[in-house]
Amino acid sequence: MTAPLPDRNDIRIAIIGLGYVGLPLAAAFGRSYRTVGFDIDTARIEELRQHRDHTLEMTEEELKASSRLGFSSDPAELAACNVFIVTVPTPIDEYKRPDLRPLESASRTVGRAISRGGVAIFESTVYPGATEEVCVPIIERESGLVFNQDFHAGYSPERINPGDKEHRLETILKVTSGSTPEAADFVDALYASIITAGTHKASSIRVAEAAKVIENTQRDVNIALINELALIFGRMGIDTHEVLEAAGTKWNFLPFRPGLVGGHCIGVDPYYLTHKAQQIGYHPEVILAGRRINDSMGSHVAQRLVKLMQQRGLRTANAKVLILGLAFKENCPDLRNTRVTDIIDELRTYNVDIDVHDPWVSAAQARHEYDIAMVAEPQAGHYDAVILAVAHREFTALGADGVRAFGKPDAVLFDVKRALPRDRVDGCL
Ligand SMILES: NC(=O)c1ccc[n+]([C@@H]2O[C@H](COP(=O)([O-])OP(=O)(O)OC[C@H]3O[C@@H](n4cnc5c(N)ncnc54)[C@H](O)[C@@H]3O)[C@@H](O)[C@H]2O)c1
Repeated sequence: MTAPLPDRNDIRIAIIGLGYVGLPLAAAFGRSYRTVGFDIDTARIEELRQHRDHTLEMTEEELKASSRLGFSSDPAELAACNVFIVTVPTPIDEYKRPDLRPLESASRTVGRAISRGGVAIFESTVYPGATEEVCVPIIERESGLVFNQDFHAGYSPERINPGDKEHRLETILKVTSGSTPEAADFVDALYASIITAGTHKASSIRVAEAAKVIENTQRDVNIALINELALIFGRMGIDTHEVLEAAGTKWNFLPFRPGLVGGHCIGVDPYYLTHKAQQIGYHPEVILAGRRINDSMGSHVAQRLVKLMQQRGLRTANAKVLILGLAFKENCPDLRNTRVTDIIDELRTYNVDIDVHDPWVSAAQARHEYDIAMVAEPQAGHYDAVILAVAHREFTALGADGVRAFGKPDAVLFDVKRALPRDRVDGCL
């Protein structure tokens, strides 16, 4: 007989992985349900127990408001739960293939804790099929339970955007799915109880997985097109932003801007889809072409800067260059897969002396992740060139004069994000 799904009045949730995605979810469920927030990172558990969140997604007050939420790195505490939601990272390896090790390890954790009637829901971004082909067999093996008979599964992708205080977990419509119609109804009702924006119940787990991965793939390919246009117009001396502004007056022209594509999602997720496509014998072209263009933008920025310096008669060897911003996007401390490092790597091949300043980023993390020693306070009037790489509000507040003030009188100013007036900078994308 199929084990019944958990009773609505007896839901005990475990959130596995308390990062940008897992913590807000744990906090939201922890306001209404008994919830254990689990992470293998004991330092993370320690800070969360003190109601501190270094990702800056949740405030102390918000964490305190989740009165039914506890934190642990002890897997034994998961045994009392009957709903397990996995929110661990899904990165790529050095060959840009999916690195499923965190997901597999989290599935083992779930398998050891789940009992009859339990539900395992995955939120991590994956390729279509991963939940049922990779995670479920691990849970079956570890638990000795039979899928869709003893335990159930679901997939509900996350759509949050780090640093975005407007689009938050509760205000973004959530796609849900389940391994049987009953499981799908259960998963949908569970999320509907915390998501004020509502839910969309997909017809299967694979449809929900595919929907998530194409959201970011579509953005990546669209940005790649705009980046390619910027490469073309840059050679022609045409201002790309002016072109986009003019074209944007048409009702169906999509408002993408050129730039670096970094972060944990947009530059990574398409590889999950292309990996699966290749596995089934299809060689994706458009998606990988977009990836190549977007990955080339950092070195393009560096080469443009070098050209501008040479045109001005500035030597590049030992020139002092200030890079403002290291995070992968504005107004957030997230360093994962930042492509500002591509600008740095390319400039280093010209023997440029680089200082990086970012008030949002932890200096220790920058050193640990990228071996970059950050400058806490750049010296005024010191640099031969300044690159505004990330439009943090602190930098835009300085305005063109404030940013220029870091440079020597004839310094080159390059504005990657087009955050300053065009006529006050020497180059932009
Ligand atoms: N960050 C985003 O904006 C975002 C948005 C939508 C979807 N996603 C997806 O959500 C998933 C999680 O992303 P994130 O940004 O929250 O990652 P993150 O790196 O911020 O957090 C992941 C957490 O999981 C923990 N962890 C790793 N392995 C574990 C294990 N085996 N058991 C328990 N805990 C473990 C880590 O210690 C970390 O605290 C990824 O698949 C990502 O693609 C992220």
